[in-house]
Amino acid sequence: MDTSEIVVGLDIGTTKVAAVVGEVDSDGTTIMGVGNVPCKGLRKGVVSNIDWTVKSIAEAVQAAQSMAGVEIRTVYASVGGSHVRSQNSDGVVAVSGGEVTSADVERVLEGARAVAMDSDRQILHVLPREYLVDNQDGIRDPVGMSGVRLGAKVNLTTAATSCVQNVVRCAERVGLTVADVVLAPLASAEAVLSEDEKEIGVVVIDIGGGTTDILIYVDGGVAHTSVIPAGGNNVTNDISMGLRTPMAEAERLKRNHGCALGRMVSDEEEVEVPGVGGHGPRKVARRVLSDIIEPRIEEIFAFARHRMEEIGLLEQISAGAVLTGGASLMEGMPEFAEEILGMPVRLGFPVGVKGISQLVQGPQYATGVGLVRHGAAMLRAAQDRHGAGLARVAPRAPEVEPAKVADKAGNRFWNWLKVAF
Ligand SMILES: Nc1ncnc2c1ncn2[C@@H]1O[C@H](COP(=O)(O)OP(=O)(O)OP(=O)(O)O)[C@@H](O)[C@H]1O
Ligand SMILES: [Mg+2]
Repeated sequence: MDTSEIVVGLDIGTTKVAAVVGEVDSDGTTIMGVGNVPCKGLRKGVVSNIDWTVKSIAEAVQAAQSMAGVEIRTVYASVGGSHVRSQNSDGVVAVSGGEVTSADVERVLEGARAVAMDSDRQILHVLPREYLVDNQDGIRDPVGMSGVRLGAKVNLTTAATSCVQNVVRCAERVGLTVADVVLAPLASAEAVLSEDEKEIGVVVIDIGGGTTDILIYVDGGVAHTSVIPAGGNNVTNDISMGLRTPMAEAERLKRNHGCALGRMVSDEEEVEVPGVGGHGPRKVARRVLSDIIEPRIEEIFAFARHRMEEIGLLEQISAGAVLTGGASLMEGMPEFAEEILGMPVRLGFPVGVKGISQLVQGPQYATGVGLVRHGAAMLRAAQDRHGAGLARVAPRAPEVEPAKVADKAGNRFWNWLKVAF
């Protein structure tokens, strides 16, 4: 990479908007600035109030650009919510000339996109799982191989078009161009997983405020993604109701004293719980707090396990689970997850970036950092494949219309780039 380029990740979550600014050059990605602002404009991962979301995006971007000392114009934005679905698909094409070219790969992936889909949905990602050349399967990169027939097995992620459009609209209202819209847990996975884990089989469980996202890698490729419509906000709600305390106090109690696993808390510990409606504060055993939290967290992990069993992938997740998202910070989360999932569990901290990376060290920044790494990878791919200087790479217009098979050369180029991620 001859020049450097600014890449900005915009994680629009149910509780916060995080803008992460990275500088990408041949040495890697350097974090230059971060803006993190609470956001009330989403419900369960989906924009429900444009004005509030726009306001939070504007504030987060403003904070990030003053820290980084750059002007932000283009962003890679996240999308989430239970409208997101994944399905497997495949395609096959004849190889012209006896040797697989990148144009053949592009054609076979275009073919794999051609699935029946409701008109109000669009394809977000075409994620190759493996290629087949003639009778040989399990191929990662078929370009240059000899053969007459090229097949591809892919995972298609689809989303409700209106939900994607609303994310793009909010960013545009702030004067930003959206270079790409990326599924939030896919970005999180990019930030926290190693290639080995993806190869051996791993599940990322991103427990945010409104949703818990699941993304499974098997044999190096994405095999499944789905969303559970519950997260840390449900825990706060339970505490507020169970201890009859205001939501803000319930949130504080959860963050400062919460524990996912009741038996990790000693019986002597006490916490002070402020009352509502003129009632004064009272002392409550910390165990009572964890007894409220535990069933909700159990429900989330049990649901995740059930989903993995249902799709028949539980046995293939040999590297275990990696927890990201703010709610994974609670004491006892990895221990409890190990018990319920029956696999090794670790917390996922963003890796693979330099600079002021301590500012984005928490698992709640996995999506933001992953968006930057995704953008950096797209720029590198563009340069590698076309020998183009970064400055000449124009951002691709986001796919806000239901997916169509692109017929223009330019569109094909960007679709081709997109399928690699
Ligand atoms: N130290 C902590 N202990 C427990 N919970 C925490 C802690 N820090 C943050 N959380 C919880 O994490 C949640 C927010 O996580 P995150 O920032 O990943 O969500 P989000 O991206 O805004 O939402 P989503 O991904 O669901 O759209 C909130 O419910 C918050 O209470
Ligand atoms: Mg999130």
